[in-house]
Amino acid sequence: MKTLIKQDYSLENCPVTEKLFTATGFCRLTFYAPSVTTEAQPGQFVMVHMPASSGRYMLPRPYSICSVDRENGQLVIFFEVGGRGGELISTVEPGTTLRLLGPLGRGFPKPQAGSLLVAGGMGIAPLVFLAKSTTVPRTLIYGSRTAARMACPREDLDLPGLTVVEVTEDGSRGERGTACEIAERYIPSSSAVFACGPRQLLAALAEAAAERDIAAWVSVEERMACGIGACLGCAVRTDQGYMRVCKDGPVFPAGEVNLQDEHTECLCQSGGN
Ligand SMILES: Cc1cc2nc3c(=O)[nH]c(=O)nc-3n(C[C@H](O)[C@H](O)[C@H](O)COP(=O)(O)OP(=O)(O)OC[C@H]3O[C@@H](n4cnc5c(N)ncnc54)[C@H](O)[C@@H]3O)c2cc1C
Ligand code: FES
Repeated sequence: MKTLIKQDYSLENCPVTEKLFTATGFCRLTFYAPSVTTEAQPGQFVMVHMPASSGRYMLPRPYSICSVDRENGQLVIFFEVGGRGGELISTVEPGTTLRLLGPLGRGFPKPQAGSLLVAGGMGIAPLVFLAKSTTVPRTLIYGSRTAARMACPREDLDLPGLTVVEVTEDGSRGERGTACEIAERYIPSSSAVFACGPRQLLAALAEAAAERDIAAWVSVEERMACGIGACLGCAVRTDQGYMRVCKDGPVFPAGEVNLQDEHTECLCQSGGN
């Protein structure tokens, strides 16, 4: 049953149509969620409720929209299974339903030719959607600690006009180094930077882009309870005072949000690289 809460997002029971573990501990779920896919923009997210069959009451978890197929109403999320919520969500099988609230938040602006996309670990999820949203020449730097954690299937990134640069800290796949080190080589010739990943990576990219006067947008993560701007639990410091990551973000202009603040590490960030 569909419950329309507000014009721009909905809360709906959505059937899972496909489940795939792309690597050990990394789950990709596809839903039939036409009311979300119609409006969803790259950088937006959904709050995923726990399976009713689990009998557990836990807060829903925020996951980026990784891609959509609007024609067929299909929506993909891609996450690391680490905590209790992700673990429960990853137990659902095709045919069962989960409650999805979304699409939520503010996404990325449309990338122009020469854009640089930088993903650290599970920061790849929203950047897949962004990379798919255009065919202009653009480069994606996909960084991970090691090849085993580079969980996004290569074919998901095989897109017209997209150059993919893989980088691992131990050199087990692609170039050896950090996503930031490699990105710094590309930033001077880029028209804009779009990034998602560990806070440290976002801070370094923001600084490198600002030095060259290049526009940059970052997708920021905070713990979330409501996902719709009501509880103020996800506030971050910005130039304009505290803002809510779920409602005013998660994408912010890099220069406007304080990326130096301590925050609780999330799975994306602790294990994500
Ligand atoms: C807008 C947004 C989009 C996200 N997209 C993705 C995605 O596409 N793929 C993905 O793998 N993860 C994503 N995350 C992170 C994911 O929501 C959290 O890791 C989530 O807590 C996982 O739930 P869990 O039950 O597996 O872990 P939990 O048991 O909830 O938490 C595990 C650990 O992470 C901490 N934590 C939980 N949530 C957060 C948070 N949001 N920020 C900081 N620390 C947290 C907890 O304190 C604990 O230490 C996103 C987060 C946000 C805010
Ligand atoms: S999670 Fe409640 S205001 Fe953002």
